[in-house]
Amino acid sequence: MIDISSFDPAGGLLDPRIYTDSDVYQRELEQVFGRSWLFLTHESQLPKRGSFIQTYMGEDPVLVVRQRDNSVKAFLNQCRHRGMRICRADEGTSKTFTCSYHGWAYDLEGNLINVPEEDRAYRNDIDKSKWGALKIPRVTNYKGLIFGTWSADAPEFEEYLGEMAYYLDTVLDMYDGGIELVPGPMKWVIDCNWKFAAEQFASDMYHAPISHASAAVAMFEDPALQGMMSPPKEAPGRQFAGNGHGSGSFWIPEFGPNPQYGPSFNAWNIANRDKVFANIGVERAHKVFAHNTCFPNFSWLGQSNTMRVWHPRGPGQIEVWAWTFVPKDAPQAVKDDIVKSSQFTFSPAGVFETDDGENWTEVQMVLRGWKARQNTFNAQMGLGYEERDTHGLPGKSNDVYSETAARGFYQRWKDLMLGVSWAGITGLDAARRASEEEVHSV
Ligand code: FES
Ligand SMILES: [Fe+2]
Repeated sequence: MIDISSFDPAGGLLDPRIYTDSDVYQRELEQVFGRSWLFLTHESQLPKRGSFIQTYMGEDPVLVVRQRDNSVKAFLNQCRHRGMRICRADEGTSKTFTCSYHGWAYDLEGNLINVPEEDRAYRNDIDKSKWGALKIPRVTNYKGLIFGTWSADAPEFEEYLGEMAYYLDTVLDMYDGGIELVPGPMKWVIDCNWKFAAEQFASDMYHAPISHASAAVAMFEDPALQGMMSPPKEAPGRQFAGNGHGSGSFWIPEFGPNPQYGPSFNAWNIANRDKVFANIGVERAHKVFAHNTCFPNFSWLGQSNTMRVWHPRGPGQIEVWAWTFVPKDAPQAVKDDIVKSSQFTFSPAGVFETDDGENWTEVQMVLRGWKARQNTFNAQMGLGYEERDTHGLPGKSNDVYSETAARGFYQRWKDLMLGVSWAGITGLDAARRASEEEVHSV
């Protein structure tokens, strides 16, 4: 096993073997995905009692189900008889779930309620109460987003989110009525490690003017718009880092007109301007929180309206599950405009999406080389230039061209991988924060 304790993510040094090593990957499933809060679904995907969706926590299949009392519960989608998935449909509505191998049946909470031929096969001597599906012990609803964790001692979700709440809330609170997800999701496979995608969405605006240059030209005729990939120096944008999460913003001179969207959306958006200002504040409405990751693998883009999970599939592959999010109360024509824009930019064939995926698969391919895996990567951009609570933004931030969030992402990853308890991680974070403030005050 690679010695993770010697890693120095805070110093911006990355060991490339973390993207390829099978032992590291198995440990991630246990220590990172087994202990973090993971995005499961949005409540709009579970419209009525008995509505369910199937998703994954790491590589574990789980069923998320709207209960009779309207609450949402989740359990491991694995039959206790021989381990088949209890439910093989992606989504739907049901009263019970029956395993298609030998027919054990479970209720909406995952309790075992029926065993075929119970008298003949088991002589009526099976205690069904002991053989229910494994329940996800903690499931929470944050403004419509459903998260779950296997961990008994992870902090409450709000604490886990920390200052990242400000950045996530911008999307969730912007319009009256909040958001909903357009039914989907779109799913596709990319041959790269999950951390490339999650880290980039946390931390990397730097690639945009280079990697997406040709896409910008294809998309916009106006050269000024083609240049908007690169935030101007006078409105530089910021990058936020905290609790392993990250967000990168750019700032716009005027709220409303957005050339990436069609006329229906633009007219509606401008008509709703005062409401947006009331909901999130004038200053915040002029900051576009463009790329975001909630540690470990839930990401969204403020621009382009995509939310996604990077499901890990071994060290060298991910399954992307991406939804378009839309203002729930907007007219259908507005939603259609957003879907069109989102599909054009960030979807399996989106002009920006394909640029990103190509980069990650390229790096993953290079890492097939033995020498290539011994070569330390540089994540030191902006190291030592972090500030707190600047430009009206809460938390630790830096110029949008920095890797503060990447360093934070890998620091949280390292703490979890070393098996530090959640109480220990909270203590370490507080100590690190105190020592940073000391440095700034001298
Ligand atoms: S594996 Fe499910 S009933 Fe046998
Ligand atoms: Fe990108």
